[in-house]
This record gives sequence, C-alpha cells and structure tokens, in this order.
Amino acid sequence: MSAISTYFSTHFNYSPNLVVLSPGRINLIGEHTDYNNGFVLPAAIDKYVEVAIGKRTDGNIHMAAIDLNKKETVSTKNLKPHSTQWVNYIIGVVYQAIQKITTSKNHNTIQLQAIHNGFDICVKGNIPSGAGLSSSAAVECAVLFALNELYNLQFNKMEMALMAQKAENDFAGVKCGLMDMFASLHGQKNQVILLDCASLDYHYYPLDLTDYSIVLFDTQIKHALASSEYNTRRQECELGVQLIKKYHSQVKTLRDVTMKQVEFYLGPNTNTATNIYKRCKYIVSEIQRVQAAVVDLELGAMQAFGKKMFETHEGLSNLYEVSCPELDFLVEAVKDNENVIGARMMGAGFGGCTINIIKKSALEVVTKQVAASYSKHTNKELVVYVTCIEEGTHLQK
Ligand code: GLA
Repeated sequence: MSAISTYFSTHFNYSPNLVVLSPGRINLIGEHTDYNNGFVLPAAIDKYVEVAIGKRTDGNIHMAAIDLNKKETVSTKNLKPHSTQWVNYIIGVVYQAIQKITTSKNHNTIQLQAIHNGFDICVKGNIPSGAGLSSSAAVECAVLFALNELYNLQFNKMEMALMAQKAENDFAGVKCGLMDMFASLHGQKNQVILLDCASLDYHYYPLDLTDYSIVLFDTQIKHALASSEYNTRRQECELGVQLIKKYHSQVKTLRDVTMKQVEFYLGPNTNTATNIYKRCKYIVSEIQRVQAAVVDLELGAMQAFGKKMFETHEGLSNLYEVSCPELDFLVEAVKDNENVIGARMMGAGFGGCTINIIKKSALEVVTKQVAASYSKHTNKELVVYVTCIEEGTHLQK
C-alpha cells in the first residue's frame, strides 16, 4: 500500500477508493503571458501532490492535510470561500464541479447527488510551497481529477483546467491565468507544451536535452508579495489595453497589440504612466519571444533558446518588475558561464526559483559554485532541484 493510502486508512478506518497524483510545473518561457492571451511553454515535473479519496453519504467533506498536520470538515451544502487557504484548494474545485453540472444543458442529477453526498480526502505532497512550482494548482487538479474518476463526471482535461483556475480565482482569491492547471493536467513525459492562451490550442514538443539538465535554484524566498502585485500587474496590462483600444476597437488583449502600437500610444512621448508602458512592452515582446523560442526548439538551436530565457529575465526584472535581488543574483551568477545555456526567474516572481539549462557534465561544479556564492551573498542556503519532465495528473498505478 502507498504511503498516502496508509495515511487515509489510519485516518478514516477504511481503504480509499482511489489515489491520484498531480505534478507541479516548470515553464521554459512565456511568463505572465497567460492572462494576456499569449503563449506559454510549460511542462509537468517529477514532484507531486497525492490525494486519496473515499465516498461518504452524510453530505460532509472530511479533509486531512498530512504535511500540515491539519484537519477540517465542511458540508457540501452552501460551499463558500473558507478562512483557511488549503481548504479552499479542495472545496473550490468541488464548488466548480457542482456549478458545472448544475448549469449544463442536460444536467445529471445522479452525479450531483453523488458529489453532495460528500467524501473523505487525504492530501500530501513533495512540491515545495511558495517556490513557484504551482503546488496549489496541483492540489486543485488532483482533487478535481479524483472527483471526476470517483463519480464518472466525464470532464475532459481542458474543462478541469478551466474549473481549477476558476477555483483559484474565486476561492483562493488569486487571479491567476490558466498555465499552472493546464500544465499539471496535460503534462507528458519529456514533452513541453506550447499553449495558446487565446484559442486554448496546444501542441507538444519533445524536449531533447541529451547533454543538458533542467535545474531549479530555489531562492528560499517565499513569494509573499506575489498575489497582490500579481493582481496589480494584471490591472496595469488591462489599462494599457484600454488606452490602445480607444484607437483600435479590435484590440481585446495585449495579444492583439504590436510593439509599434505600444511605443506610439504608451511610449515615453505620451502621457501614459511609465509603469503601464513598461508592463505592456514586456508582455508584447514576451509573446513574440515565445513564438521565436519554439522555432529554436524545432531547429534544435538550444543556445538561441537559452539566450531568449536570459532576455525574458531581463524583461521580468526591469520592465515587469516582478523579480527580487536574490533571483537577479542567481541569474547573474550563471550568465557568463559557458555550461549554462539559459536561465531566468520562473513563475509569478518576488521569490521562488530560477530555471536553468545546464550542461550535465558540469552540473556538480556549477551548482557548487552558485550555492557557495549565493550563501555568501545572502546568508541563505540554495536548494537545488534537478527536474525531469513527467506525465500529468493520473491515477496511481
Ligand atoms: C503564476 C500564475 C500563472 C502565471 C504565472 C506567471 O504561476 O498562477 O497563471 O501567470 O504566475 O507566468
């Protein structure tokens, strides 16, 4: 029996109906572009949230967060945002599932009743929280996938990704885009996924890194500022769109905007606030950069791809202003190292990890060097994860 099943049995005195694993994610390039209808290039990794689930009949959800050593019970009637955040990751998707079924054309009362009957659930995982690897999205996807299997709800992966995103928006209060949930659910071994966040079309690309590894350097800075600043960045982008839209009514998001328009309507020669200009300039260039980076990938031009990662970092740090001194330090530390082809901060920012593509033969030397200079500079220990790209959310085999 797996560890999570044992926890479940100890907690609830019966064996779970099923166990689901849902991974964290990395993102090669395309940061803060998802909520601007741009492109992202994420992948699921070998770090997981595990949930074990079993049916109840009394209308309650009994939850146990093993790593936090916390328990909570809520009724399935009148689900609403809870004061405890980890609870929201669970009940937020239950609410979305109920909503989705209730509002569907031929809504299935048997499924609805089944969800309303409640369940027991144990959650556990090894995705570090606050590191920018989307542990919360992994919980949401794991719970939703488990409910989908348990009650045969027949949601497809994209529907589940959108529902989990809505749960994060409405219950957890973070106005995130779709990337994290999409990647956790759709991951495939050794493949990165180009997602067009406007059309929701996606395409898998094999990531053949043979001589290189994807390495995350964790600053150990928890991105506490991230959610408030994140929401501000969204607003700044929307403001930029509003200003351009006055002259070009077809413009709906920054995806529809050219760099020429950014300069003309928002640039230094206009009355626009500098922040709006800088944010929009970064996003428009990043959307273009992802498309060019995918061409590099197709051509196997990894040096060119890596160079774009450095460019992304520069934009995130100087224009989008979501980096922090520790992230900048880590990127700077590898910038001129011939064994590192690309590096940048990853995720929402203000802490968390940098993502690096490092030559395998030099991995030990590079990480030792960076760890030593990082702890000298910040008095903090550098935590290093060498990641593998793995399959997305799935039943335990
Ligand atoms: C967080 C959000 C994502 C995305 C990234 C930045 O991870 O949850 O939707 O916006 O930040 O790219």
